[in-house]
Amino acid sequence: MSEQIDLSGRRALVTGAGRGIGKAIAIRLAAAGADVAVNDLNPETASRTAGEIRALGRRSAALPGNLRSTETVHAICDGAVDALGGVDILVNNAGISLYRSIVDCTEDDWDAHVDGMAKATFLTMRRLAPQMMERGWGRIVNLGSYVAQLNTVTKFFGPYCAAKFAIVGLTQVAAQEFAPHVTVNAIGPGDVATEMMEAEWVQEGERRGIPAAEVKEEYRRRLILEAFEAPDDIAGGVLFLCSPLANHVTASHLVMSGGLPFKQ
Ligand SMILES: NC(=O)c1ccc[n+]([C@@H]2O[C@H](COP(=O)([O-])OP(=O)(O)OC[C@H]3O[C@@H](n4cnc5c(N)ncnc54)[C@H](O)[C@@H]3O)[C@@H](O)[C@H]2O)c1
Repeated sequence: MSEQIDLSGRRALVTGAGRGIGKAIAIRLAAAGADVAVNDLNPETASRTAGEIRALGRRSAALPGNLRSTETVHAICDGAVDALGGVDILVNNAGISLYRSIVDCTEDDWDAHVDGMAKATFLTMRRLAPQMMERGWGRIVNLGSYVAQLNTVTKFFGPYCAAKFAIVGLTQVAAQEFAPHVTVNAIGPGDVATEMMEAEWVQEGERRGIPAAEVKEEYRRRLILEAFEAPDDIAGGVLFLCSPLANHVTASHLVMSGGLPFKQ
């Protein structure tokens, strides 16, 4: 017996979808039948992802822009509505990470994480949830992280952890406010081998005076499943949360981390 997830007729906006996890999410939603608008800071990668979505036979629009600006967030949300005729699925994926101790962090480090991730999530939901509620259907998925639960293993990511906890808290409140026809969930990756993680391994290696490859291998060994996730693994979780299989899932933080941080 097989079950196909069909998102035909649904219209999505994925932020930070020029590369990594966001790109995998955008492509996976399109492969399931959705039309997908693509935001990224980088106009070239945004256009590339939009092109790949069109090649799948779906509608797309590249909406480049920095989510740290409220005006830009509004323009991206409105641009997606104009291009696709509405937004039924919103995935707040864009993010940054910096390996730096709290005492060395600047205020701008804090603002870059908290504004670029938590505030941007607040702004996109505020802009797009009303039309989802009005139409009586919507799915919002916000990128959390395994660090946004009890965190006893990851230091040197103060502003990052603060932003991710904020996103999970906001998700729980939004789920109540946008119910019953709009679900709001977070999804929490563990260690996904993307350019973001590769940069973290380099930064940690430099701090500890060891090669990045050694740090990477340490990270791999701390996973119960002993292998890094692929961006498409997280995309599968997002697809599930947007599918009828998850009609009764809201306010959750689905941690897909290969068991991190629970290995003894
Ligand atoms: N990679 C992991 O192991 C991991 C683990 C937990 C959570 N996450 C989360 O998953 C999401 C995606 O991570 P990734 O590994 O694919 O990262 P990535 O760095 O590979 O991709 C992030 C994308 O977001 C874009 N972006 C960043 N800031 C932006 C802004 N202000 N405005 C618009 N676009 C912006 C970047 O240009 C980039 O294309 C992030 O929210 C991240 O925190 C990743």
